[in-house]
Amino acid sequence: MSESDQSRQSPVHNGRLYIETVGCQMNMLDSELVVAALRQDGYQLTDNPKDADTILFNTCSVREHAEHKIYSALGRLKYSKRNRPQRVIGVLGCMAQKDQDLIFQKAPHVDIVVGTGQLAEIPRMIRETRSATERVQQKAVSLGRREGSRDEITDSFQSYDPLRDPEMRPTPFQAFVRIMIGCDKFCTYCVVPATRGPEQSRSPSQILAEVRVLADQGVREITLLGQTVNSYRFTENGRMHRLSDLLVQISDVPSIERIRFVTSFPRDMSDDLLQAVRDLPKAMKYLHVPAQSGCNEILKRMKRGYTVEEYREMMHRIRETMPECAVSSDFIVGFCGESEESFHKSMDLIREFRFKNSFIFKYSKREGTRADDLYEDDIPETVKRRRNNEMLDLQNQISEEDNAEFIGRTVSVLVEGPSKWAAKKNGPATDGHRPGEPLATQLMGRSECDRIVVFDGNPRLAGTTARIRIDDCTVTTLIGTVETLEHQHGSSGILPILV
Ligand code: 5AD
Ligand code: SF4
Repeated sequence: MSESDQSRQSPVHNGRLYIETVGCQMNMLDSELVVAALRQDGYQLTDNPKDADTILFNTCSVREHAEHKIYSALGRLKYSKRNRPQRVIGVLGCMAQKDQDLIFQKAPHVDIVVGTGQLAEIPRMIRETRSATERVQQKAVSLGRREGSRDEITDSFQSYDPLRDPEMRPTPFQAFVRIMIGCDKFCTYCVVPATRGPEQSRSPSQILAEVRVLADQGVREITLLGQTVNSYRFTENGRMHRLSDLLVQISDVPSIERIRFVTSFPRDMSDDLLQAVRDLPKAMKYLHVPAQSGCNEILKRMKRGYTVEEYREMMHRIRETMPECAVSSDFIVGFCGESEESFHKSMDLIREFRFKNSFIFKYSKREGTRADDLYEDDIPETVKRRRNNEMLDLQNQISEEDNAEFIGRTVSVLVEGPSKWAAKKNGPATDGHRPGEPLATQLMGRSECDRIVVFDGNPRLAGTTARIRIDDCTVTTLIGTVETLEHQHGSSGILPILV
C-alpha cells in the first residue's frame, strides 16, 4: 500500500489542511513533503481555505512583493481566527526564517512559524498547538549565518526529504528531487544564503533511492533541484560524485525517461557536465544559467564571481558541445548603480545569446543582504519598470522568432495533461481516441529543449511521450499535431497511433 493510500484510510482524522505555496520549485517540493507528513498524521487536504482547520503558507522572501502578498493574506485571516480560535495558522519557509518573531508582531493570530530547515517539526508543533489549554505561539527556526560555527549552522538546517506524496506533484509523471540545500555564493542582492543556510549536498545513494521510489510510483521525469545545482559534490565510499555522475546513475533507472536540473551557476558549468548532458539520451537538452547582468561593474557589485567575458566563454562551450541545447537566464534590472549604459549591456547580452526565455526581475532591496549594507537602492521604481518592460519586449521578440524556427519540425514531448495556457482549438481529434471516450482536449507537454508544446489529443495520452509536428507558435508556446507515440508507461519503441 502506498503512503497516500495509508493516510486516506487512516482511522485518525485530524481535520482539513489547506496549504498555499509561493516561490520557487524548492518551495513546491517542501510543500509536497509537509503534506505527505501531515497526511500520515491523519490530515486531509482541501483546496478551500474556508473549510480548513489548519492553514499553512509556504513563503518566499526573494522579493519584497512576495512577502507583502503573504502579509495581506494573513491580514485577511485575522477575524476568522477570532471566530474559529481552534484553527491553526502557520507560516513556513523563507519568510519564517527571515522575519521570525516579526511575523507574530505583524500577525498575532499566527500560531506557528517554521523556517526552511525545521519543516520536520510541523506535525509536532500543530499537535501541541491544538492540545494546549492556553494559546501558545511556537517558532522553529535555524541559526543565522553569523550565529555559530559553520558546523552548528549547518546542523540547524535539517535536510528534509522523508516522504513523497504523489498528489502534490505538478503531474503524476513528474517529480522534483532535491540534491542540495542552501547556498554559499552570497550574491549581494540575495536572501537565499540566509533563509536556506549553508550549501550541503545530499548523498548519491539517498538520491538514487528516492528516484527509484518515485519511478515505482509512476514518475517518468525527474527534475533535480539545487540553488546552484551544478556545484553538487559528495564523497561517498571514497569516491567524489559530481552532477554528471548523478545523471549517469539516474539514467540507469529503467522507467525514468527524462532528467532535468535547475538552477546552474555560470562559474561551475564544467565540461564533464556538458558532455554528460550531450551523451545521455535521457538528459534534457536544456540549461538554466542566470546571467543577472551584462555589465562587468554591476556583476562585480552583485558579487557574482564572473565577468561578461567568462559568461561568454561558458556560452561558447555550451554551444560547441551541444548546438541544439536551449539556454534560459535570469536578469535583475535596476540594481544599485545600474546606469542606462549598464542596462543596455544586459540588453546586448540577450541579443548575443538569444536565450530561450529570461526571467526578468526589478531589483528589490532585501534587509540583511550585503547590497542593502553597501549600496543605495538608487534607481527609481519608474525606471526599473521601464527597463523591465523593454527587456521583456526584447526577450519576447527573440523567443517568438526562435519558436518560429520550429514550424515544420517534429519534437518529442512528454505529455503532461490538459493545457492551461493556450485557448481551446475547435474540432475533434482522432489521435488516441477510442469509441466511448471523451473526444480530444487541448493537451500540453514540454519538448526536450524545455519548450511548452500544445496539441489536441485524448487525455489518456498523459504520461506518454509523443512526437508532435509543429504547425504554429506564440511567444511562449509551440502549437502542433500528434504524429506518433514513442513510449507508453515504461514500454519503449514507437507505438502506432491509438485510434
Ligand atoms: N531583487 C530582485 N530579484 C532578485 N533575485 C534574487 N534576489 C533578488 C532581489 N533582491 C532574482 C535573481 C535570481 C532569481 C531567482 O530571483 O535573478 O536568479
Ligand atoms: Fe542567491 Fe546567488 Fe545563491 Fe543564486 S547563487 S541562490 S542568486 S546567492
